[in-house]
Amino acid sequence: MYDFDTPAPRAGTGAIKWDILGPAFGNSQALPFWIADSDYRSPPELVEALRDAAARCVFGYNEPGRSYFEAVRGWFSRRHGWEVDPEWIIPSTGVVSEIANVVRCFSKKGDKVIIQTPVYDPFGKVIEAAGRVVVKNELLGSAASGYTMDFEDLEAKLREGAAMLILCSPHNPVGRVWTPEEVRRVAELCREYGALLVSDEIHFDIMIGGSRHFTAGLAGTPENLILLSAPSKTFSVAGLKCSNTIVPDPVLRKKLRDWQEARHIETPNNLGLVACEAAYTHGAAWCDEQNEYLTGSAGIVRDFLRERLPEVPVAELQGTYLMWFDMTASGATSHELMEAMAKTGAALNDGLRYGAEHHMRLNIACPRAQLLRGLEAIAEGYERARKR
Ligand SMILES: Cc1ncc(COP(=O)(O)O)c(C=O)c1O
Repeated sequence: MYDFDTPAPRAGTGAIKWDILGPAFGNSQALPFWIADSDYRSPPELVEALRDAAARCVFGYNEPGRSYFEAVRGWFSRRHGWEVDPEWIIPSTGVVSEIANVVRCFSKKGDKVIIQTPVYDPFGKVIEAAGRVVVKNELLGSAASGYTMDFEDLEAKLREGAAMLILCSPHNPVGRVWTPEEVRRVAELCREYGALLVSDEIHFDIMIGGSRHFTAGLAGTPENLILLSAPSKTFSVAGLKCSNTIVPDPVLRKKLRDWQEARHIETPNNLGLVACEAAYTHGAAWCDEQNEYLTGSAGIVRDFLRERLPEVPVAELQGTYLMWFDMTASGATSHELMEAMAKTGAALNDGLRYGAEHHMRLNIACPRAQLLRGLEAIAEGYERARKR
């Protein structure tokens, strides 16, 4: 049994989530439920591998070796049922920076890039920063009814011409794990209209309530796919900057490799590689237990809201550790809600950031005691902000 109840020491360590609460929320004593990393310790097997690496006392230039590629291949095979040829794997230093590379490498200025809103905000930012045009394919539904994809609108937007679609799978912030049918349909539509499918699967191991992730790697359109994932969310090693870009098609792969080489974009740092290899070699049991823990925590949040704030629907959490609330019934703006909750002691992400006014995103990857205190602060802040 692994321990998710003991908080990791984070305040005062440079952790963004903890150390800029004052400037970001006006209350340095609030509990943080915003930035998507975890507040319990990473798996002991992973920490041990990092200790061993540090004990060698040298940190020169390294590159990922055979054992690294084998670990990534094995994880995709065992956990996701996708047989990845090690050749296809391009180790990278972060999913967002790699999406920015992919956007610039595979489209030109003025091209359209589709995203499915409300969605993780850096997608839109890197597209616009590259001089490409964001096209929104809004999700259908709501926190109360559940979210689905609007395929009719998607097809119309693809028909008008788009260089690529960035899929968020599982979806941050609405917490959906897309079904095999949904993923296949997206992949097929992209292929039909000649758009590249860029699938961000960074949250693919965080499965709630027995959900099963279906990777775009199994959708049957490998010639059209660039998939990005990482151990960073699952094992809380985001600060080690190690992700993997999987490109099955040799032509796309060569193009990306050449593009990166020309810009001297390098492989992850030594400790990131060690952490990824250890996580994917020894982390399965820890990952399963974390999923059980998070499933329990998601249930606690759901029951708490039902009892204390019944007018606030929460989206069913299927994947990720990010919960999505609709606080429209308060009559308050997102800003007023955020401010009130920060004052009563809970720092959440404002849904406006992802494109949805009156919504809030709650990160539940923390010890239960912290979550329970946060829920009380959320309820109190909500009551203070409520206008009707
Ligand atoms: C969907 C999604 N992609 C990417 C990232 C960030 O990835 P990285 O730190 O590797 O850039 C996040 C972090 O929250 C995320 O939710």
